[in-house]
Amino acid sequence: MKILFTCLGNICRSPIAEAVLRKKALDKNLGLTVASNGTNRYHKGEGADKRTINICKKNGIEISHHIATRFKTEDFDKYDMIVCMADDVYEELQQFVTNKDQLQKVIVVPFDDPWYGGDDGFEKCYRSIEMYCDNFIQNNF
Ligand code: 4NP
Repeated sequence: MKILFTCLGNICRSPIAEAVLRKKALDKNLGLTVASNGTNRYHKGEGADKRTINICKKNGIEISHHIATRFKTEDFDKYDMIVCMADDVYEELQQFVTNKDQLQKVIVVPFDDPWYGGDDGFEKCYRSIEMYCDNFIQNNF
């Protein structure tokens, strides 16, 4: 199964989700392919936000190699499930839709955007993503 997490910038929420789910899937040998990207181009080519790197490091996950990429229409074919991480991300995603059926693979799971806040927002974001990943594994494997 191939799963894609999509947020706006691909520097905060979705890189955390990609790294957390990939680690859990590897630990449990689930055979999951996990990736992430963003709907906007503002941070394309950049590394993850420093606060993202820090919260992951604090939890034993190294993501300093992450490079932000942007969503592409082909991703609707490439993945089995696309987790859209906020309502505004779902709106942004519409610009890539060329066929309404593509949206059948998309689920919207809202996570608060920690970009404008401090480290506590990243703590909260990390915890809610971790909880989501645990539930996802429990419900699908
Ligand atoms: P992300 O966070 O979508 O979780 O990566 C954001 C990063 C950048 C911006 C917004 C959200 N921005 O407006 O530049």
